[in-house]
Amino acid sequence: MDDKKIIFSGVQPSGNLTLGNYLGAIKNWVSLQDEYNCVYAMMDMHTITVRQTPADLRRRTLELLALYIAAGIDPEKSILFIQSQNPAHAELAWVLNCYTYMGELNRMTQFKDKSARHAENINAGLFTYPVLMAADILLYQTDYVPVGKDQMQHIEICRDIAERFNGLYGDVFKIPEGMLSKSGAKIMSLQEPEKKMSKSDPNPKGYISMMDDLNVIAKKIKSAVTDSEGKIEYREGDPAKAGINNLLSIMSAVTGRGIEEIAAEYAGKGYGDFKGAVAEAVVECIRPVREEYDRIIKDKQYLTDICAKGAELSYKIAQRTLKKVYKKVGFVI
Ligand code: TRP
Repeated sequence: MDDKKIIFSGVQPSGNLTLGNYLGAIKNWVSLQDEYNCVYAMMDMHTITVRQTPADLRRRTLELLALYIAAGIDPEKSILFIQSQNPAHAELAWVLNCYTYMGELNRMTQFKDKSARHAENINAGLFTYPVLMAADILLYQTDYVPVGKDQMQHIEICRDIAERFNGLYGDVFKIPEGMLSKSGAKIMSLQEPEKKMSKSDPNPKGYISMMDDLNVIAKKIKSAVTDSEGKIEYREGDPAKAGINNLLSIMSAVTGRGIEEIAAEYAGKGYGDFKGAVAEAVVECIRPVREEYDRIIKDKQYLTDICAKGAELSYKIAQRTLKKVYKKVGFVI
């Protein structure tokens, strides 16, 4: 291996990927590929902590893979794989479960949120979700984990588990660091702009799916919630401006231009004009990714080959760490 630092990240195939996921995560991952050795995964094992329709999960996992590639993640440069196709993740997660305290898992805000939302299915997997995530990261001796702010608590517990293990057995794991996306774009719901744009939003008008028809995308932006003040101005933290702030952030993220510059250009114009321009910019940003996606998703053999290669490569790397761990804890290897 060369001396590039290692990046690990992944997304759950739990719903259609949104514009927020694309701008906030995947687009950023593409730009990391030359400077780092990147490992990106489809986190299907995390997804079943919430009930799924099996056929949908299978289809969405492959769609996510096709979308990663369409967005510019190059399977020749980066390792791309499906979590469940690499058994090392479940194996390390079991060991780490025995080095993680109930008390620390109980404090996880995501567990509290999800168990409130799925009160009928508070399963043990939902509780130990952060341990599986720690295994994902630690198997690759990862340096940096690009994630959103909402995942930082999971990175913290991963570091705590790794430090505890290293404290007992010597340097087994690299202690990873979270890496917040450079663009910092946090894309909010189009209908409730005080909430993050989410693929699990029950109202499809709130989010833009990367799979939406381009006309539908334009329509959703044009019907985004704004305010009655009629001023195109960015006012951070002002709840009345949440809708306009969000449209300005989206425009900035898709065009790469500064928010202030965009606000100045549209100052004095009507919301209708501005929304039209944002809709067009978003459609032009998604169009090439969609065209590439439509081509790749039809090529099942290609996708299957990528999965097989990714599973093999990732297992090879992961196994080195797993072997060390097994040896340290006293398993016969
Ligand atoms: N928990 C992450 C999310 O919901 C997904 C995830 C699972 C992940 N394992 C990971 C992200 C490891 C980064 C690294 O977004």
